[in-house]
Amino acid sequence: MWIAFLIICSLIVGTQSAATMTSQLQMEANAIIKSGWWNTSDARFNISDRCNWHDIFCNGVGSINAIKIDSWGSQLATLNLSTFNLSTFQNLESLVIREIGPLGTIPKEIGHLSKLTYLDLSNNFLDGQVPPSIHNLRQLNYLDISLNFIKGSIPPELWLLKNLTFLDLSNNRFKGEIPSLLGNLKQLEDLDISSNYIQGSIPLELGFLKNLTRLDLSNNRFKGEIPSSLRNLKQLQKLDISHNNIQGSVPLELKFLKNITTLILSHNRLNGNLPISLTNLTKLVYIDISYNFLTGTLPSNFFSLTNFETSIDLSCNFISGEIPSMFGNFRQLILSNNNLTGKIPESICTVTFMNISYNYLSGSIPNCVDPFSIIGNKDLCTNYPHKNTLFQFQPCSPPKKSYKVKHHGFIVLSILSIIILALSFLICFKLRHSSVKNKHENTTTTKNVDMFCVWNYDGKIAFDDIIKATEDFDMRYCIGTGAYRSVYKAQLPSGKVVALKKLHGYEAEVPSFDESFKNEVRILSEIKHKHIVKLYGFCLHKRIMFLIYQYMEKGSLFSVLYDDVEAVEFNWRKRVNTVKGVAFALSYLHPDCTAPIVHRDVSTSNILLNSEWQASVADFGTARLLQYDSSNRTIVAGTIGYIAPELAYTMAVSEKCDVYSFGVVALETLVGRHPEDILSSLQSTSTQSIKLCQVLDQRLPLPSKEIAIHDIIHVAVVAFACLNLNPRSRPTMKRVSQSFATELTPLRTPLSEISMQQLLSQELKALFYIEDP
Ligand SMILES: *[C@@H]1O[C@H](CO)[C@@H](O)[C@H](O)[C@H]1NC(C)=O
Ligand SMILES: *[C@@H]1O[C@H](CO)[C@@H](O)[C@H](O)[C@H]1NC(C)=O
Ligand SMILES: *[C@@H]1O[C@H](CO)[C@@H](O)[C@H](O)[C@H]1NC(C)=O
Ligand SMILES: *[C@@H]1O[C@H](CO)[C@@H](O)[C@H](O)[C@H]1NC(C)=O
Ligand SMILES: *[C@@H]1O[C@H](CO)[C@@H](O)[C@H](O)[C@H]1NC(C)=O
Ligand SMILES: *[C@@H]1O[C@H](CO)[C@@H](O)[C@H](O)[C@H]1NC(C)=O
Ligand SMILES: *[C@@H]1O[C@H](CO)[C@@H](O)[C@H](O)[C@H]1NC(C)=O
Ligand SMILES: *[C@@H]1O[C@H](CO)[C@@H](O)[C@H](O)[C@H]1NC(C)=O
Ligand SMILES: *[C@@H]1O[C@H](CO)[C@@H](O)[C@H](O)[C@H]1NC(C)=O
Ligand SMILES: *[C@@H]1O[C@H](CO)[C@@H](O)[C@H](O)[C@H]1NC(C)=O
Repeated sequence: MWIAFLIICSLIVGTQSAATMTSQLQMEANAIIKSGWWNTSDARFNISDRCNWHDIFCNGVGSINAIKIDSWGSQLATLNLSTFNLSTFQNLESLVIREIGPLGTIPKEIGHLSKLTYLDLSNNFLDGQVPPSIHNLRQLNYLDISLNFIKGSIPPELWLLKNLTFLDLSNNRFKGEIPSLLGNLKQLEDLDISSNYIQGSIPLELGFLKNLTRLDLSNNRFKGEIPSSLRNLKQLQKLDISHNNIQGSVPLELKFLKNITTLILSHNRLNGNLPISLTNLTKLVYIDISYNFLTGTLPSNFFSLTNFETSIDLSCNFISGEIPSMFGNFRQLILSNNNLTGKIPESICTVTFMNISYNYLSGSIPNCVDPFSIIGNKDLCTNYPHKNTLFQFQPCSPPKKSYKVKHHGFIVLSILSIIILALSFLICFKLRHSSVKNKHENTTTTKNVDMFCVWNYDGKIAFDDIIKATEDFDMRYCIGTGAYRSVYKAQLPSGKVVALKKLHGYEAEVPSFDESFKNEVRILSEIKHKHIVKLYGFCLHKRIMFLIYQYMEKGSLFSVLYDDVEAVEFNWRKRVNTVKGVAFALSYLHPDCTAPIVHRDVSTSNILLNSEWQASVADFGTARLLQYDSSNRTIVAGTIGYIAPELAYTMAVSEKCDVYSFGVVALETLVGRHPEDILSSLQSTSTQSIKLCQVLDQRLPLPSKEIAIHDIIHVAVVAFACLNLNPRSRPTMKRVSQSFATELTPLRTPLSEISMQQLLSQELKALFYIEDP
C-alpha cells in the first residue's frame, strides 16, 4: 500500500519535473527567437535544432548551458543585450560574448544566472556600470570584462564571488580605489586591473591572495608605497605596477617572491637603492624599473645571471658608481641615463644587447661595444678612428696629424649624426609617450568628424552611405580584385573619397580570412604614421565585412612600375622618396623600445601612392606583433619573390624578414621590374661585375644631377645590404632609416663606374652608415 503510494507520488513529481523541463525548454526557445540575434526564419537556424548551432551548447536534456559568441565569424543577425532575456537561461554555466560589440550596458538580469561559472564579455564597447546584482553569481570562476568603457567604481560586492580564480577588469574606465574586500577572493590566481583610473594606495589586503600568479595594476593612478604584504604572494610569477605614482623604495620583501619571472615597476617615483636580494630570485628573467628615482650603486653580483632570456632595464634613474665587472650571459641590459662612472668592463661583452648611453663613463671602449649604445659618455675614448670621429669620442692616445686632414669630411658627418641621434631620441620619446596616452583615448576617434569611424556594429549612417556610394558594391566601382577581397572606390556625400576593402562574402565565413580582417583592424587602429595607410573604420554587416581606408590615387607601386606611362612620370626623385617613405614606415613598426610589428607581406603590391606620389605601406592582414617570449614560428605568409630565404627552412619570423622584403622592393623600384634574375645570381662574379647603370630602369633617362646619382647609389647599397642571405647581417630598419635621414656629402664617383660588387662592399656600406651589425 505504502509502496504503491510512493510510486504514485514519485510519478507525479516525475511528470511535474518533466513538465517543468519542457516549459523551460520552450521558454529558452522563445527567448532565443525574441532576441533576434539569430535569423530564425533562415533554414540554417531551425529553432528546434538550436543545440547544434555554432554558438549554442546544451546539457543532456536539451537545456542551454553555454553560449559562446567569440568571433566576428558568428552568423548573428543583430546583437543587443537588452533584447536578450537572460533570466530565462536558468542552466547557463558559460557565457562568452567577445569582440563583437557594441552591446550597450551589462543588464542587471545577469544576476539571475546563478549557475554561471564562466563569464567573458571582453572587448565589446560595453558602457555604464557593473550592476551590483553581479554578486549573485556565486559559482563564478572566471570573469573577464576587459577592453570596454565601463565606468564607476569597482563594485565591492565582487568579494562575494569567492570562487573566482580569474578576474580581468583591465582597459576600462574604473575610478575610485580598489575595494580592500577583494582580499577575500582567496582562490584568485589572475588579477588584472591595468589601464583604468584607479587611485589611492595599493590595498595591503592584496597580500592575502596567496594563490595569485599574475597581478597587473599598471597604468593607473596609484600612490603610496608597494605594500610589504605582497611578500605573501609566493606563487606570483608576474607583477606589473608600472605607470603609476608609486613612491618609496623597491621593497626588500620582493625576495620572498621565489616564483617571480617578470617584475615591472617602471614609470613610477621609486627611490632608494636597488635591493641586493633581487639577485636571489633565480627565476626572474624580466626586470624593468626604468624611469624612477633610484639612487645608490649596483650590487656587485647583480649581473651575474646566466639566463639567456634575461632582460634588465634600469634606464632613466640616478644610479651611480661603477658597472660591476661580474657578468653572466644574458640577453639585454639597459642602463642608459643614469649617473654611472668608471670604466666599461670587458666582461659586458657577454650581454647580447646593451645600452649604457648618457652616463659619466670613462676609459677605453671595449671592442665588442656598438657605439650607438654608449653615446652621451663624453669621457670615453677609442683608438678606432671611425668611432672616434663619428661619435666624438676622445682618442685614447694622441692622433696623427695627417689623418685628421684626410678625414675632414667625417667631421661634418659626425655633427649631422649627433643631430640625427638627438632627433631620433626625441621621436622615440614622443612615440613612447603617445602610445601611453593613446591607451586612454581609444574612443575619441568616433568624435572626429573627418574619421567617420564605424566602430559600431550596425553604424547605420556610414553603412548606408557606402552602399549608396558604391551602388551596393557594383563592379563599376571596383578598382582591384584579389584572391580574398575586392577594393572599391567610394565618394561619400561629404565629398570625401575613400577606398573600401571588402572580403568576398563567402570568404568571410572562412576563419583564416576573418582572422586577417581582424588582425588588420587591430594593428591599423593602433598605429598612425605618415607612410602607413590610414584606416578610417570598418563595417561588419551580416556577412559583409569591409575596411575603409584613405584613398590612394596612384594605386600600388606595382601598378605604377608596370605601366609604361606612369613609370616615366615616376622619376628618380619620386622613386627614391618612395623607398625612403617605406623605410621610415617599417622603422616605425620595428621600434627598439617595444615589441615590433612584423608586416610579413611587404611587396610592391602592398605599397600605395597618393596623388602627390607619397608612399604608404598597406595590407596588414598578415602582420604580427612579435612577443619576445613566444617562439615566433608560424606558417609562411607573404608574396613569393619577396619572402626572406630563411623562412623557407626555419619558419622563424623576425623583423629581419621585413628587411629582406624591403630590399626587394627597393631594388625593384630602381630596376623597374622584379629583380629575380639579379637576386638568384648575385653570388656569381659575372653578375658582380655588371654596372649599376646597366640594370637601372631603362624607361627613364639616366640621372645627371650629382644629388640624384648619389641618392640612387644610396638606395642600391641599402637594398643589397637588406638582401643579405644571413638575417643577422641585414641592417635593422632603424639603421636604414637613419642612413636615409642623414644628409651625406655627395659621392663623386661617376655612376657609370659603380658595379654590383662595389654596391656590396664594406666601403660603400660604411659611407652610407649601414655596416653589418
Ligand atoms: C532571414 O532569413 C531569411 C531566409 O533566409 C531571409 O529572407 C531574410 O532576409 C533574413 N532576415 C534578415 C534580417 O537577415
Ligand atoms: C526544423 O526541424 C524539425 C525537426 O528537427 C523539422 O520537423 C522542421 O520541419 C524544421 N523546420 C524547418 C522550417 O526547416
Ligand atoms: C538595444 O535595444 C534597445 C531596446 O530595444 C535600444 O533602446 C538600444 O538602443 C539598442 N542598443 C543598441 C546598441 O542597438
Ligand atoms: C524573461 O524570462 C522570464 C523567465 O522566463 C520571465 O519571467 C520574464 O517575464 C521574461 N521577461 C521579459 C521581458 O520577457
Ligand atoms: C565553489 O566551487 C566549489 C568547487 O568547485 C563548489 O563546491 C562550490 O559550491 C562553489 N561555490 C561556492 C559559493 O563556494
Ligand atoms: C590555492 O590553490 C591550491 C592549488 O591549486 C588549492 O588547493 C587551494 O584550494 C587554493 N586556494 C587557497 C586559498 O589556497
Ligand atoms: C612555484 O612554482 C612551482 C612550479 O611552477 C610550484 O611547484 C611551486 O609550488 C611554486 N611555489 C613556490 C613557493 O615555489
Ligand atoms: C641569497 O642567497 C644566498 C644563498 O642562497 C644567501 O647566502 C644570501 O643570504 C641570500 N641573500 C639575500 C639578500 O637574501
Ligand atoms: C648625477 O650626476 C650629476 C652630474 O655629475 C649630478 O649633478 C647629480 O647631482 C647626480 N645625481 C645624483 C642623484 O647622484
Ligand atoms: C641607447 O639609448 C639611447 C638613449 O635612450 C638612445 O639614444 C640610443 O639610440 C640607444 N642605442 C641603441 C643602440 O639602441
